[in-house]
Amino acid sequence: MQARKINAGIYWVGAVDWDRRLFDALIPLPDGTSYNAYLIQGSEKTALIDTVDPAMAHMLLDRLHQLGTEHIDYVIANHAEQDHAGALPQIINRYPEVQVVCTSKCKDMLVDLRLAPPDRFLTVNDGATLSLGDRTLEFIHAPWVHWPETMLTYLREDKILFSCDLFGSHLATTGLYVTDEGQVYEAAKRYYAEIMMPFRKIIQKNLQKIQEHDISLIAPSHGPMYERPEFILAAYRDWVLGDPKNSVVLPFISMHGTTLKMVNYLVDVLTEKGVTVQQFNLAVTDIGKLAMALVDAATIVIGSPTVLTGAHPNVVYAAYLANALRPKLKFASIIGSYGWGGKMVEQIAGLIPNLKVELLNPVVCQGFPGKSDFDALDKLAGSIADKHKEHNLFGIRENKND
Ligand SMILES: Cc1cc2nc3c(=O)[nH]c(=O)nc-3n(C[C@H](O)[C@H](O)[C@H](O)COP(=O)(O)O)c2cc1C
Ligand SMILES: [Fe+2]
Ligand SMILES: [Fe+2]
Repeated sequence: MQARKINAGIYWVGAVDWDRRLFDALIPLPDGTSYNAYLIQGSEKTALIDTVDPAMAHMLLDRLHQLGTEHIDYVIANHAEQDHAGALPQIINRYPEVQVVCTSKCKDMLVDLRLAPPDRFLTVNDGATLSLGDRTLEFIHAPWVHWPETMLTYLREDKILFSCDLFGSHLATTGLYVTDEGQVYEAAKRYYAEIMMPFRKIIQKNLQKIQEHDISLIAPSHGPMYERPEFILAAYRDWVLGDPKNSVVLPFISMHGTTLKMVNYLVDVLTEKGVTVQQFNLAVTDIGKLAMALVDAATIVIGSPTVLTGAHPNVVYAAYLANALRPKLKFASIIGSYGWGGKMVEQIAGLIPNLKVELLNPVVCQGFPGKSDFDALDKLAGSIADKHKEHNLFGIRENKND
């Protein structure tokens, strides 16, 4: 793929990673991803915004070569993480005159990561500007989105926000701009769930700061650019600030079908009561889908058999992940089964202190569930539906089921 023109003197020079199937060795990428870098040729100075994953450094260098780029004054490092800063050594090697522009925290991290020598930097404060002649870059510090050193870069004259990871989506595409908003919504939500959700409170403040700028294009560092910034800004407002939805996320494992029987029963009763459920059999599920469901859910019910006195290892993993992602859940419960005894419930409950949820009575049965167990599941479904109603999470249609 060639360098792609955005405006006069502004080019996309990134890399599309069609084959990548796992991000952070954790989240599946069904549609690949991209690492976007942008070249801005001002009347006096030239700046490169971010680089690419080191495995694709040659693509960045090829595109710069193809544009006849003999000199780069500044490389703006919005973020120190390797998928954007990892090709700095190659850029510094090819363009020895370049200065790395970043926050002072980012400088420390890039030096620690051995991606740039300490004498190469120009550190910038929040709100600082850098003139390229006829164009001006403004730096917006955004610490903890999602590392402590991050910033965004705003190109004033063209009203382009280079938002780095914020608003990114995991999507490999030849399209420079979003065309199918539904597809990008999914890919951006997957991205948000894993990377941004734990920092919801901080992102809230950053959204306010960003909205003080007149933005006509958002150019993130993953996925296509947003010509209609309001699309992704509205999605983020909903994910970050919106009330949770009338929905239960139900990750579970079942070895012999016992916990599964309980899960199926509970899902049926909840559905009858007008509560949406997303169930995830952790033996087969895409963990990214589970993370996405956690963005909106009001309740999590975790289902596990008892295995070697505790929860099934896959359930421990999912509970640990949910706890780390800090979604806006309000309620939780645990269901499952045991043969002779153990501490499955206590163990799972102990894994989710960050969730700050009200724990609804767990339902645990010995052997295969019988009448009293189904009655207990009825009660649990009833209290979940009641809690969702109390919090006004039911829509008009669900209320009709009363
Ligand atoms: C590998 C293995 C280890 C188990 N360890 C325990 C245990 O420590 N304590 C216990 O009460 N039951 C234990 N069980 C029994 C299961 O918890 C019980 O059969 C349960 O009903 C299985 O639920 P499932 O059909 O949803 O997998 C174990 C079962 C298996 C297969
Ligand atoms: Fe990142
Ligand atoms: Fe990234």
